[in-house]
Amino acid sequence: MSLRARLKASAGPLSLTADCSEAAAGVSSEKAIFSLFDLDGRNVPTGYTYLEDIAGGCFGEVVKAKDTHGRIVAVKKTWCATGSPPRHGAPDCIPEALALSAVSHDNVVSLLDAVPSDSETFLVLQMCALNLDQALTRWQRPLPEATVKALLLDLLSGLAACHSAGLLHRDVKPANLLLTGSGVLKLADFGHARWHDGKGPYSPAVASRWYRAPELLYSSQHYDGAIDVWATGCIFAELLGARPLFPGSSDIEQLSKIRAVMGSIDTRAWQGALQWPDFGKLTFSPCSPCPWQEVLPGASAPALDLLSCMLQYNPDDRLSANDLLTHAWFRAPPLPCSRAIISQLVKDAAR
Ligand SMILES: Nc1ncnc2c1ncn2[C@@H]1O[C@H](COP(=O)(O)OP(=O)(O)OP(=O)(O)O)[C@@H](O)[C@H]1O
Ligand SMILES: [Mg+2]
Repeated sequence: MSLRARLKASAGPLSLTADCSEAAAGVSSEKAIFSLFDLDGRNVPTGYTYLEDIAGGCFGEVVKAKDTHGRIVAVKKTWCATGSPPRHGAPDCIPEALALSAVSHDNVVSLLDAVPSDSETFLVLQMCALNLDQALTRWQRPLPEATVKALLLDLLSGLAACHSAGLLHRDVKPANLLLTGSGVLKLADFGHARWHDGKGPYSPAVASRWYRAPELLYSSQHYDGAIDVWATGCIFAELLGARPLFPGSSDIEQLSKIRAVMGSIDTRAWQGALQWPDFGKLTFSPCSPCPWQEVLPGASAPALDLLSCMLQYNPDDRLSANDLLTHAWFRAPPLPCSRAIISQLVKDAAR
């Protein structure tokens, strides 16, 4: 029986947090996660054999394991999905299993099983080779434009699928993008995700600093998928160049780095920033934008045009992931490179 079918069949004991029940009420009940296994072994549920550690994150652990058919999987231990609030991060996250089960797309990591216990949930995920952050430290940079195109197409496709499913990811960054041995980039780590109901308030304490949109840095509680598009723009620039675009070491420095490239926010032309709670609390001297050609001298004009469709102060001026996918840059030569090329790059990096 497939996971989805089992989830459908099991109405039972899963009680979601207040926020999740609210969210689940707005989506179909088949998105509820429940599966019964006894727990056994080291950070893997019964039926899986522990093989080795992959990552020991701040909030969970990911290990490599084998199922009873010999299939290699990744098992992530994550916070409880059985009624208690999240132990970390933003208070309005939904259980990661719930988020993952809402999106089925080639560019989103597949949830194969979800095994809850009293204190945590084990997510059984398709096994990937490594994350983009690891790959970027091992690849020769800057990458060829055709490679950047292929990676960005995958990322935007995964993001568009999430947004279409009504999910905000809220932690798009290279370490949360996985690469498979067959050369597919997949959006992963939905530990900060929540439903986008269009109302808010939402927690501004989300996303990793280098990839945080200005509205989050200024503590806005009313935001949308444009925060994920900002993060994607930062990653795009990191792929085009050879280093992170805005590597701030504090929130103030983060804003300074953004301003040094994008200039001051002109509140005469756009008053929206005045609504951001912390906007008036910080004063910076006015500064002019730096042309993208100077920031990323090796990038082509169409690539920079696409970048400027993502990195805008006004969230409404950022194009949606779906619209970005139709940008002419993707259809102009050089065309996105083949999966075989990305696959070889992944294999080289994973060695
Ligand atoms: N399905 C997978 N296949 C291979 N590696 C994975 C998989 N899922 C996660 N990982 C690895 O584990 C790391 C941490 O996973 P994830 O980002 O989901 O957890 P996290 O709670 O955010 O941990 P961290 O605090 O390290 O960010 C990823 O960056 C990746 O390197
Ligand atoms: Mg992560």
